[in-house]
Amino acid sequence: MKNIDPSKTEAWKKLQQQFEEHKNLQMKDLFKEDPSRAERFTINWEDFYVDFSKNRITEEVQTSLLELAEECGLKVAMDAYFGGDVINRTEGRPVLHTALRSPEDATIKVDDENVMPEVYAAKKKLSDFSQQIITGAKKGHTGQAFTDVVNIGIGGSDLGPVMVTEALKFYKNHLNVHYISNVDGDHVQETLNNLNPETTLFVIVSKTFTTQETISNANTARDWFKKTAPGDAVSKHFVAVSSNLEKVGEFGIDQENIFPMWDWVGGRFSLWSAVGLSISLAVGFDQFDQLLQGAHKMDEHFKKEELRSNIPVQLALLSVWYNNFFKAESEAVIPYTQYLQKLPSYLQQAIMESNGKSVNRNGKPVSYETGNIIWGEPGTNSQHAFFQLIHQGTKLIPADFIGFKESLYGNKDHHDKLMANYFAQTEALLMGKTAAEVRQELDSKGMDREEVEKLEPFKVFEGNKPTTSILIDKLTPESLGKLISMYEHKIFVQGVIWNIFSYDQWGVELGKQLASKILSEIDKSDVSNHDSSTKNLLKSYIK
Ligand code: F6P
Repeated sequence: MKNIDPSKTEAWKKLQQQFEEHKNLQMKDLFKEDPSRAERFTINWEDFYVDFSKNRITEEVQTSLLELAEECGLKVAMDAYFGGDVINRTEGRPVLHTALRSPEDATIKVDDENVMPEVYAAKKKLSDFSQQIITGAKKGHTGQAFTDVVNIGIGGSDLGPVMVTEALKFYKNHLNVHYISNVDGDHVQETLNNLNPETTLFVIVSKTFTTQETISNANTARDWFKKTAPGDAVSKHFVAVSSNLEKVGEFGIDQENIFPMWDWVGGRFSLWSAVGLSISLAVGFDQFDQLLQGAHKMDEHFKKEELRSNIPVQLALLSVWYNNFFKAESEAVIPYTQYLQKLPSYLQQAIMESNGKSVNRNGKPVSYETGNIIWGEPGTNSQHAFFQLIHQGTKLIPADFIGFKESLYGNKDHHDKLMANYFAQTEALLMGKTAAEVRQELDSKGMDREEVEKLEPFKVFEGNKPTTSILIDKLTPESLGKLISMYEHKIFVQGVIWNIFSYDQWGVELGKQLASKILSEIDKSDVSNHDSSTKNLLKSYIK
């Protein structure tokens, strides 16, 4: 991979100049001037219709952004990424979650060895196991079929599976799937309260099998289980997904009930592996495989499509444009389906843990902004919560609007209303409302002149707020796979441009280390050296 400071490139200089010239450009004028603007900035690919014309770009800016990608060596980096080079250099690993959804006959090498046979062996194991649990062929220790599955994991070992299981609820079978992530004992207890140990299967997901939250929760679940079951029944009710075979064995899980994880798959990109076991149990392996196939289709699009009509590339470049030139700090993701309610939290980890870095690939501080803040909630709920700030606040918040042409239960009346809001919001954010329009509206209601003048400034909408509309035919396992993969590649492209290492997460370590030190102080009721604030808080807690 090239190691280039983006701010020193020719394209960056051009973009800086273009930003100065165009920063006050009104998108509605651009639409008026160019009747084919919408077509020009729309990518139609398979069941995805991605319209990014409501963004503050011109063709000139788009070209400079593409030049920036070229100058930063995006194509070389893509080859390194898909080819299994050690691009996660601070951890000495390749980044190959894309191998998990590649066809069986592909050859993808890690340390000179093709990983595809072991990927497919793991898939077979996942498929067989899911089938046995769903059909009831595999039973609990008292001979009853399983009714409930509890996934215990955190971060990438939770967010991907819980987001996808929620998103694919429509396709679910009879198994009730629960997720325990937080080390908050109340969260664990609330879940266990409603479960029957004889019909519950626990899936402990932890790549390292040392994560404090997951191991504590797994121990609590095992203690709860053992209250009513003999010790040797644990092996029938507990399975693990991990790369730490030794620790899993110590916990009491049979080797045959361990599903593998690999070093070359990062936690936040692991839902495609056996980490997705709870997804496969919830919807069946075939639907899980459809998810993988969708992701693979997006991988191919990303790999092969020229950069100008490449969805992840365009999304990443727009984000760089706002982040680095407009200095927009955050981006909103607004899915117009309740099924995707967990997508923003999932993307928070994927994006912020990946690109929340402030040193470049030489280990030197960057002189430009990197990872953005991601947030969001489904529409229309979010319209009644935070949209006021997007419309009339002081901050520029580019937003992705994700909508579907069809609803799953086919309630057309509701779906039309939902989608009318989807379209209306992006139009309102683009067009705003001028003072003249406000006056005319109030006049037509018969309001007196003085009152109209007083109200007018509060009712004006500036407009010119950027949005990208991602309109997909239908929420299916395949389209969801494409959507997730699209964001994964967007993350990659941004990391390449910002010249940072997107696949490590050292920033989460310090808090973990301090927490274990503080825990031993709490255990001993002995508060040692801390800043006075932390010391007082601890003393107050221990009392
Ligand atoms: O939050 C840090 C992190 O390392 C994530 O990257 C990872 O997804 C999570 O912890 C869980 O790790 P593990 O799967 O090893 O329990």
